[in-house]
Amino acid sequence: MTPPSDPGSLPPLRVAVLGCGTVGGEVVRLLLAQADDFTARIGRPLELVGIAVRRAGKERPGIDPALFTTDAQTLVSRTDIDLVIEVIGGIEPARTLILTALASGASVVTANKALLAEDGATLYDAAERAGADLYYEAAVAGAIPIVRPLRESLVGDEVTAVIGILNGTTNFILDKMDTEGAGFAEALADAQELGYAEADPTADVEGFDAAAKAAILSSLAFHSRVGIGDVHREGITEVTAADIASAREMGCVVKLLAICQLSDGGRPDGTGPGRTVSVRVHPAMIPRSHPLAGVGGAYNAVFVESRFAGRLMFYGPGAGGSPTASAVLGDLVTVARNRVRGASGPGESSYAQRVVTGIGDVVTRYHLSLAVADVAGVLATIAHCFAEHGVSIQTVRQQGREGDAQLVIVTHRATDAALSATVDALRRLDVVSEVTSVMRVEGE
Ligand code: NDP
Ligand code: HSE
Repeated sequence: MTPPSDPGSLPPLRVAVLGCGTVGGEVVRLLLAQADDFTARIGRPLELVGIAVRRAGKERPGIDPALFTTDAQTLVSRTDIDLVIEVIGGIEPARTLILTALASGASVVTANKALLAEDGATLYDAAERAGADLYYEAAVAGAIPIVRPLRESLVGDEVTAVIGILNGTTNFILDKMDTEGAGFAEALADAQELGYAEADPTADVEGFDAAAKAAILSSLAFHSRVGIGDVHREGITEVTAADIASAREMGCVVKLLAICQLSDGGRPDGTGPGRTVSVRVHPAMIPRSHPLAGVGGAYNAVFVESRFAGRLMFYGPGAGGSPTASAVLGDLVTVARNRVRGASGPGESSYAQRVVTGIGDVVTRYHLSLAVADVAGVLATIAHCFAEHGVSIQTVRQQGREGDAQLVIVTHRATDAALSATVDALRRLDVVSEVTSVMRVEGE
């Protein structure tokens, strides 16, 4: 009988890392620390051959300075590299570097949701042409396994909705505003300090980051190409302490939600022709009893509804160096195993080509705050305005002040188009001095 060969004695798979910041630094550290285990899990050793950065002279303790280069393009053009990890972020030069790496024969692991949501199809096509893998578990919800469940585990089912808290920074901020009464700026500074926020926090607080992740999840869930431009997006910069207090009075909490839905096809079992997709990211009030309401700090959670499996919930750290590195390294081991077997993982599945509908068709409930004159007949005028647009009021609460009052109105379910028309009409009423805030109410 031939003794099994020692995997450590086999030729190594060569790895290049692009970026050594919050995520890349942890990827390199954990890759080196777990080298022996990875050799055993993959069946071949990994050899780290280069790390591309912007500032080669920056001190990075524990990493051999000889590995660093500022010439990422030359690194990814090498044809002796098997695996490339891209953790630079942004569109360029990341896209060109990934395409070069694939063309040079390497498989790619990336955490770059911005690029995948902007131009995922180009990356998939290049991977397909090269017969290489493109894996990106870390691009959505940090450490939480959600890409692979949608891409592989649930591929025998029909996913009908994916609802998630997909941005750690905004969840951290909203949670701090709710539980500690912190101001927005103070909470954002803490999130940046902890490494949750993107380099430019606009991507987090304006919802671009969550929208990119929602596009990726919708594409996987609904077997269709959904890009960042298809996602209706609103950020949290206009959420006020008053909104958070009002949510509290209703037994709700404010969360930035990503809601990806497959429409009902008209048949009793929900199937049928012409099923469309809607994808939106916006702050919303959800009841404190809802499972997503308890997701605090920088944690993320994703709720998946499918025809046969029913409801599934995924929960965990959605940002930060080592949680994200865990997802990157999970992909690295998987694509390395594929290399060893001469196999490759799944490519793009966009056969369904579902139409993505606009926000106007979305149906949900709304919470409105209005500053109004506190005189006889005002309530009737306002109620008439809602009725004229077919929006039914569920509750009205008034907080009076001298001469004017704050009205808090919660509606029954209505289309976004009907609600927007109502708000426009309210703004034109003499008795309404301001529509202070409009927020969707989800999860009931
Ligand atoms: P950082 O800004 O911390 O790190 C970026 C790294 O890329 C730095 O090492 C930087 O070099 C390097 N870099 C920048 N430009 C170039 C260039 N032109 N050539 C070579 N290297 C370059 O980003 P993060 O680690 O936070 O994010 C990396 C990726 O991971 C992004 O796609 C992000 O969206 C994603 N991600 C991040 C998470 C997080 O919690 N931070 C969570 C999930 C995903 P230098 O060090 O010299 O400046
Ligand atoms: N800035 C992102 C967040 C990092 O806060 O969730 C994870 O993608």
